Amino acid sequence: MVYIGGMEVWTIQKLLGWMVEYFGAKAVDSPRFSAELLLAHALKWKRIELYTHFDAAVGAQRLAELRGLVKRAGEHEPIAYLVGATEFYSMTIRVGRECLIPRPETEMLVERAIDLLRKQAGEQQVLDLCTGSGCIAAAIAKNHPAAMVVATDLCEKALAIAAENVRTHGLEARVRLLCGDLFEPVIAGLDAAKFDLIACNPPYVSAGEYEKLDRNVRDYEPKKALDGGADGLDVYRRIAARVGEFLKDDGALLLEIGCGQADTVRGLLEAAGLKNIQVFKDHAKLERVVMGRK
Ligand SMILES: C[S@@+](CC[C@H](N)C(=O)[O-])C[C@H]1O[C@@H](n2cnc3c(N)ncnc32)[C@H](O)[C@@H]1O
Repeated sequence: MVYIGGMEVWTIQKLLGWMVEYFGAKAVDSPRFSAELLLAHALKWKRIELYTHFDAAVGAQRLAELRGLVKRAGEHEPIAYLVGATEFYSMTIRVGRECLIPRPETEMLVERAIDLLRKQAGEQQVLDLCTGSGCIAAAIAKNHPAAMVVATDLCEKALAIAAENVRTHGLEARVRLLCGDLFEPVIAGLDAAKFDLIACNPPYVSAGEYEKLDRNVRDYEPKKALDGGADGLDVYRRIAARVGEFLKDDGALLLEIGCGQADTVRGLLEAAGLKNIQVFKDHAKLERVVMGRK
């Protein structure tokens, strides 16, 4: 133990050890990773710097700031909201309580989208419905310089966060954010004649599942980002009803889906006249993305 002037000193190493134990006792997800993220955020350091300064003492002011964050994390407030950012597709994406925290599963949809766009020549028109933090729109634009992206969301506050992400990643010239209900804000012919690709990670949690969500999700993430109606499929039905108007011939629709939704969503896309429908599994072997072509 290190003491200065009779006072116990909190070194990085000691603080981390204590936080890991505290988070473990509170059943916080990934206690070590969470502790490192919070401590690095409170110190305004990179995570790696914690390891290169293991014996450094943490000052009283930083300790006081950290204390509040640790308490909130112990009450299951998501770490991404506490630090205001998360990693998505190797990009730092800013998040706030008004938008869903991007999930690693959604990277699959982005991977498929980029793969598809790279097989086509020239400028590609992309529409990202339900953009939230803008993570899908930004990741596609960042990784495919020929993509021109329009992204829509109902929530103005989420779009303000998306705008920050678009700015931070230098994508203002190729990502346009529009506020409104699904396709509603898109002016055909002005925003794009039609789209080569439409991507969407909609709210898809059913009413029954919503009640059973982990409390760090249900109590903190916005309900309108999760609630897909009684059976979770409301938004898929609405997308299927209009997607044909907005896709170019042979254009692709990519939808993230929840557990057990693949067959119904496939049926909806077939009924909408889409063809070559494929379902892709994520790294956990769960059906996660449905794709169809006009
Ligand atoms: C599951 S979140 C996805 C956010 C982001 N695309 C992602 O993958 O992390 C769904 C988003 O859809 C938005 N939303 C819900 N209903 C909508 C609608 N009818 N039209 C447009 N956006 C909607 C919510 O505000 C929320 O930001």
